[in-house]
Amino acid sequence: MSSEKQLSLFEWSNNDDSLVSTPNSDLEFNLIPTDVKIPIPSGVYKTMEQITFHCNQCRRCELGENRTNAVIGRGNPEAEIMVIGEAPGQNEDEQGLPFVGKSGQLLDKILQSVELSSDRHVYISNAIRCRPPENRTPTLKEVGACKPYLLEQIRLVNPKIILLTGATAVKALTGDKRGITKIRGQWIEWEGRLCMPIFHPAYLLRNPSREPGKPKWLMWQDIQAVKQKLEELQSDSNSFDF
Ligand code: URA
Repeated sequence: MSSEKQLSLFEWSNNDDSLVSTPNSDLEFNLIPTDVKIPIPSGVYKTMEQITFHCNQCRRCELGENRTNAVIGRGNPEAEIMVIGEAPGQNEDEQGLPFVGKSGQLLDKILQSVELSSDRHVYISNAIRCRPPENRTPTLKEVGACKPYLLEQIRLVNPKIILLTGATAVKALTGDKRGITKIRGQWIEWEGRLCMPIFHPAYLLRNPSREPGKPKWLMWQDIQAVKQKLEELQSDSNSFDF
Protein backbone atom coordinates (compact mmCIF):
# COMPACT_ATOMS: atom_id res chain seq x y z
CA MET A 1 0.00 0.00 0.00
CA SER A 2 1.27 3.48 -0.78
CA SER A 3 2.38 5.88 1.92
CA GLU A 4 -0.23 8.36 0.70
CA LYS A 5 -3.00 5.87 1.23
CA GLN A 6 -1.83 5.00 4.73
CA LEU A 7 -1.37 8.65 5.58
CA SER A 8 -4.89 9.39 4.41
CA LEU A 9 -6.10 7.66 7.55
CA PHE A 10 -5.08 10.75 9.41
CA GLU A 11 -7.20 13.11 7.43
CA TRP A 12 -10.04 12.34 9.76
CA SER A 13 -8.97 14.92 12.31
CA ASN A 14 -9.63 17.85 10.04
CA ASN A 15 -12.01 16.89 7.37
CA ASP A 16 -14.25 13.97 7.93
CA ASP A 17 -16.05 13.94 11.25
CA SER A 18 -18.00 10.86 10.28
CA LEU A 19 -14.79 8.89 10.69
CA VAL A 20 -14.10 10.07 14.21
CA SER A 21 -17.59 9.67 15.65
CA THR A 22 -16.88 6.12 16.82
CA PRO A 23 -13.46 4.66 17.35
CA ASN A 24 -14.03 1.71 15.10
CA SER A 25 -16.37 3.24 12.57
CA ASP A 26 -15.04 3.10 9.05
CA LEU A 27 -11.38 2.49 9.62
CA GLU A 28 -10.11 -0.29 7.50
CA PHE A 29 -7.40 -2.49 8.86
CA ASN A 30 -5.24 -1.89 5.81
CA LEU A 31 -5.35 1.86 6.41
CA ILE A 32 -3.53 1.59 9.73
CA PRO A 33 -0.01 2.94 9.20
CA THR A 34 2.05 -0.21 9.48
CA ASP A 35 5.18 1.51 8.33
CA VAL A 36 7.04 3.22 11.11
CA LYS A 37 8.39 5.73 8.62
CA ILE A 38 4.90 7.12 8.22
CA PRO A 39 4.42 9.86 10.77
CA ILE A 40 1.41 10.17 13.00
CA PRO A 41 0.84 13.91 13.13
CA SER A 42 -0.04 15.62 16.38
CA GLY A 43 -3.75 16.23 16.78
CA VAL A 44 -5.14 13.27 14.84
CA TYR A 45 -6.82 11.55 17.76
CA LYS A 46 -9.80 13.09 19.47
CA THR A 47 -10.26 10.48 22.18
CA MET A 48 -8.38 7.79 24.08
CA GLU A 49 -10.83 5.28 22.61
CA GLN A 50 -9.53 6.07 19.14
CA ILE A 51 -5.96 5.56 20.30
CA THR A 52 -6.95 2.27 21.94
CA PHE A 53 -8.72 1.06 18.85
CA HIS A 54 -5.83 2.04 16.65
CA CYS A 55 -3.09 0.59 18.87
CA ASN A 56 -4.87 -2.74 18.99
CA GLN A 57 -4.31 -3.00 15.25
CA CYS A 58 -0.91 -1.35 15.17
CA ARG A 59 2.02 -3.09 13.48
CA ARG A 60 4.48 -0.21 13.62
CA CYS A 61 6.88 -2.57 15.39
CA GLU A 62 7.08 -6.31 15.86
CA LEU A 63 5.66 -6.33 19.37
CA GLY A 64 2.19 -6.13 17.84
CA GLU A 65 2.51 -9.71 16.62
CA ASN A 66 2.44 -11.28 20.07
CA ARG A 67 0.28 -8.99 22.15
CA THR A 68 -3.00 -10.02 23.76
CA ASN A 69 -4.01 -6.40 24.26
CA ALA A 70 -2.41 -3.08 23.57
CA VAL A 71 -2.08 -1.27 26.90
CA ILE A 72 -3.05 2.38 26.62
CA GLY A 73 -3.83 3.88 29.99
CA ARG A 74 -5.86 3.84 33.15
CA GLY A 75 -7.06 6.49 35.57
CA ASN A 76 -8.53 9.90 34.89
CA PRO A 77 -7.85 11.06 31.31
CA GLU A 78 -8.24 14.65 32.54
CA ALA A 79 -5.85 14.27 35.46
CA GLU A 80 -3.32 16.91 36.44
CA ILE A 81 -0.67 14.24 36.97
CA MET A 82 0.35 11.67 34.38
CA VAL A 83 2.61 8.73 35.22
CA ILE A 84 4.67 7.16 32.44
CA GLY A 85 6.16 3.72 33.04
CA GLU A 86 8.27 1.50 30.86
CA ALA A 87 6.26 -1.25 29.18
CA PRO A 88 3.38 -3.62 29.89
CA GLY A 89 4.16 -6.92 31.61
CA GLN A 90 2.17 -10.13 31.53
CA ASN A 91 -0.73 -8.95 33.73
CA GLU A 92 -0.98 -5.72 31.78
CA ASP A 93 -0.94 -7.52 28.45
CA GLU A 94 -3.72 -9.84 29.63
CA GLN A 95 -5.92 -7.10 31.07
CA GLY A 96 -5.12 -4.30 28.62
CA LEU A 97 -4.39 -1.93 31.52
CA PRO A 98 -1.06 -0.53 32.75
CA PHE A 99 0.40 -1.19 36.18
CA VAL A 100 -2.06 -3.81 37.37
CA GLY A 101 0.52 -6.27 38.75
CA LYS A 102 2.73 -5.99 41.85
CA SER A 103 4.48 -2.84 40.59
CA GLY A 104 1.10 -1.26 39.98
CA GLN A 105 -0.11 -2.08 43.48
CA LEU A 106 2.98 -0.42 44.89
CA LEU A 107 2.55 2.58 42.58
CA ASP A 108 -1.03 3.00 43.81
CA LYS A 109 0.21 2.86 47.44
CA ILE A 110 2.89 5.47 46.73
CA LEU A 111 0.27 7.79 45.25
CA GLN A 112 -2.14 7.12 48.11
CA SER A 113 0.57 8.05 50.62
CA VAL A 114 0.07 11.67 49.52
CA GLU A 115 -3.68 11.31 49.03
CA LEU A 116 -3.58 10.91 45.28
CA SER A 117 -5.90 8.28 43.95
CA SER A 118 -4.92 6.52 40.75
CA ASP A 119 -8.57 6.62 39.62
CA ARG A 120 -9.24 10.30 40.28
CA HIS A 121 -6.04 12.31 40.36
CA VAL A 122 -3.71 10.48 38.00
CA TYR A 123 -3.59 9.05 34.49
CA ILE A 124 -1.14 6.17 34.01
CA SER A 125 0.49 5.01 30.80
CA ASN A 126 3.79 3.63 29.51
CA ALA A 127 6.56 4.46 27.05
CA ILE A 128 5.33 1.59 24.86
CA ARG A 129 1.94 -0.09 24.47
CA CYS A 130 2.78 -3.74 23.82
CA ARG A 131 4.57 -6.24 26.04
CA PRO A 132 8.17 -7.04 25.04
CA PRO A 133 9.05 -10.76 25.11
CA GLU A 134 10.36 -11.93 28.51
CA ASN A 135 9.70 -8.38 29.76
CA ARG A 136 12.96 -7.17 28.27
CA THR A 137 13.71 -3.47 28.05
CA PRO A 138 12.09 -1.96 24.97
CA THR A 139 14.44 -1.20 22.10
CA LEU A 140 14.98 2.30 20.76
CA LYS A 141 13.11 1.25 17.64
CA GLU A 142 10.09 0.09 19.62
CA VAL A 143 10.08 3.23 21.73
CA GLY A 144 10.31 5.39 18.59
CA ALA A 145 7.53 3.49 16.85
CA CYS A 146 5.21 3.96 19.82
CA LYS A 147 6.15 7.53 20.68
CA PRO A 148 3.47 9.21 18.55
CA TYR A 149 0.80 7.43 20.63
CA LEU A 150 2.45 8.55 23.85
CA LEU A 151 2.65 12.14 22.62
CA GLU A 152 -1.00 12.07 21.62
CA GLN A 153 -1.98 10.73 25.05
CA ILE A 154 -0.02 13.51 26.74
CA ARG A 155 -1.67 16.07 24.47
CA LEU A 156 -5.15 14.75 25.28
CA VAL A 157 -4.60 14.48 29.05
CA ASN A 158 -2.70 17.79 29.17
CA PRO A 159 -1.19 17.09 32.60
CA LYS A 160 0.49 19.77 34.72
CA ILE A 161 3.00 17.23 36.01
CA ILE A 162 4.50 14.11 34.43
CA LEU A 163 6.13 11.43 36.59
CA LEU A 164 8.65 9.32 34.72
CA THR A 165 9.22 6.00 36.44
CA GLY A 166 12.71 4.77 35.68
CA ALA A 167 15.40 5.55 33.15
CA THR A 168 13.56 4.02 30.18
CA ALA A 169 10.62 6.36 30.62
CA VAL A 170 12.93 9.37 31.04
CA LYS A 171 14.89 8.49 27.92
CA ALA A 172 11.76 7.67 25.91
CA LEU A 173 10.17 11.03 26.56
CA THR A 174 13.05 13.47 26.93
CA GLY A 175 16.04 11.70 25.36
CA ASP A 176 17.99 12.16 28.60
CA LYS A 177 20.22 9.12 28.98
CA ARG A 178 21.39 9.69 32.54
CA GLY A 179 20.83 7.00 35.14
CA ILE A 180 17.77 7.29 37.34
CA THR A 181 19.74 7.52 40.59
CA LYS A 182 21.42 10.66 39.21
CA ILE A 183 18.28 12.48 38.16
CA ARG A 184 15.44 11.24 40.36
CA GLY A 185 13.81 13.91 42.42
CA GLN A 186 14.89 16.75 40.13
CA TRP A 187 12.31 18.71 38.16
CA ILE A 188 12.99 18.86 34.47
CA GLU A 189 11.06 20.81 31.90
CA TRP A 190 9.97 19.05 28.73
CA GLU A 191 7.90 20.85 26.11
CA GLY A 192 6.73 23.33 28.73
CA ARG A 193 5.63 20.62 31.15
CA LEU A 194 7.12 19.80 34.54
CA CYS A 195 8.50 16.29 34.73
CA MET A 196 9.88 14.44 37.73
CA PRO A 197 12.00 11.31 37.20
CA ILE A 198 11.32 8.81 39.99
CA PHE A 199 12.35 5.25 40.70
CA HIS A 200 10.39 2.50 39.00
CA PRO A 201 8.18 0.67 41.54
CA ALA A 202 9.74 -2.65 40.44
CA TYR A 203 13.09 -1.33 41.68
CA LEU A 204 11.52 -0.56 45.05
CA LEU A 205 10.10 -4.08 45.22
CA ARG A 206 13.66 -5.35 44.91
CA ASN A 207 14.93 -2.84 47.48
CA PRO A 208 12.38 -2.89 50.29
CA SER A 209 14.38 -1.11 53.03
CA ARG A 210 12.77 2.13 54.29
CA GLU A 211 15.94 3.42 55.93
CA PRO A 212 16.84 7.06 55.23
CA GLY A 213 18.80 7.34 51.99
CA LYS A 214 17.48 4.04 50.58
CA PRO A 215 15.33 3.98 47.42
CA LYS A 216 11.98 3.71 49.23
CA TRP A 217 12.84 6.61 51.50
CA LEU A 218 13.97 8.65 48.47
CA MET A 219 10.67 7.86 46.76
CA TRP A 220 8.84 9.18 49.80
CA GLN A 221 10.78 12.46 49.49
CA ASP A 222 10.03 12.64 45.77
CA ILE A 223 6.31 11.96 45.98
CA GLN A 224 5.94 14.57 48.73
CA ALA A 225 7.73 17.09 46.49
CA VAL A 226 5.30 16.19 43.69
CA LYS A 227 2.28 16.73 45.93
CA GLN A 228 3.66 20.04 47.12
CA LYS A 229 4.30 21.21 43.55
CA LEU A 230 0.78 20.21 42.53
CA GLU A 231 -0.68 22.24 45.39
CA GLU A 232 1.48 25.24 44.41
CA LEU A 233 0.32 25.01 40.81
CA GLN A 234 -3.29 24.67 41.90
CA SER A 235 -3.07 27.69 44.20
CA ASP A 236 -1.36 29.72 41.42
CA SER A 237 -4.20 28.96 39.06
CA ASN A 238 -6.77 30.01 41.71
CA SER A 239 -5.13 33.38 42.40
CA PHE A 240 -6.00 36.60 40.63
CA ASP A 241 -3.71 39.48 39.80
CA PHE A 242 -5.39 42.81 40.24
N1 URA B 1 5.86 -1.83 34.62
C1 URA B 1 5.69 -0.80 33.79
O1 URA B 1 6.60 -0.03 33.54
N2 URA B 1 4.51 -0.63 33.25
C2 URA B 1 3.48 -1.42 33.51
O2 URA B 1 2.41 -1.18 32.96
C3 URA B 1 3.67 -2.48 34.39
C4 URA B 1 4.87 -2.68 34.95
